[in-house]
Amino acid sequence: MQKLNDTVTFRNGATVANRIVQPPMLTNSGRDDGHVTQDTINYYNQRSNSAGMVIVEYTYVSRAGGPSRSWASDREQLGLYKDEQMPGFTKLAQTLKKDGNKAILQLEHSGREANYHAQLGEKVYAPSSFDFGFLDYEVEEMTEADILEVIHDFGAATKRD
Ligand SMILES: Cc1cc2nc3c(=O)[nH]c(=O)nc-3n(C[C@H](O)[C@H](O)[C@H](O)COP(=O)(O)O)c2cc1C
Repeated sequence: MQKLNDTVTFRNGATVANRIVQPPMLTNSGRDDGHVTQDTINYYNQRSNSAGMVIVEYTYVSRAGGPSRSWASDREQLGLYKDEQMPGFTKLAQTLKKDGNKAILQLEHSGREANYHAQLGEKVYAPSSFDFGFLDYEVEEMTEADILEVIHDFGAATKRD
């Protein structure tokens, strides 16, 4: 019988120490331009051994793709859409790997939820034009070119490691 503390080896050969996963959970510890902060490092440093697989919270891949659900504090969602943000994520990866864990990051685009841009008086984009009655700002429909750019941004973020 398999036990929670058995190792797991995936088809690509990667092995994790046990069958426990910490799912991605936002900490709102980033800077308002998405940079990892010392708060982010401290949080994941304490949890690098909390599970066999720790998945770092949702991180937006395009400038317009976040921060989402902003409370206009000085700490926001993490973003990885430009090279200047890489050193923080490199440090985060090293922190997670220090006890043998993998460094896994959830990439996303927050779409209509990227309300920080509404607060800045900028446009917020979603795949469809729709009256989201529960939002107090308008959402602009993405063009095909916008969507292709987001697809490109996902690819670019995977290469920033
Ligand atoms: C504080 C908090 C932050 C979360 N942040 C994320 C996130 O960044 N990305 C995500 O996909 N899910 C997020 N979730 C959802 C959790 O990953 C989800 O609750 C977890 O997978 C457990 O699933 P369950 O609630 O269906 O049991 C978050 C949940 C909580 C409680």
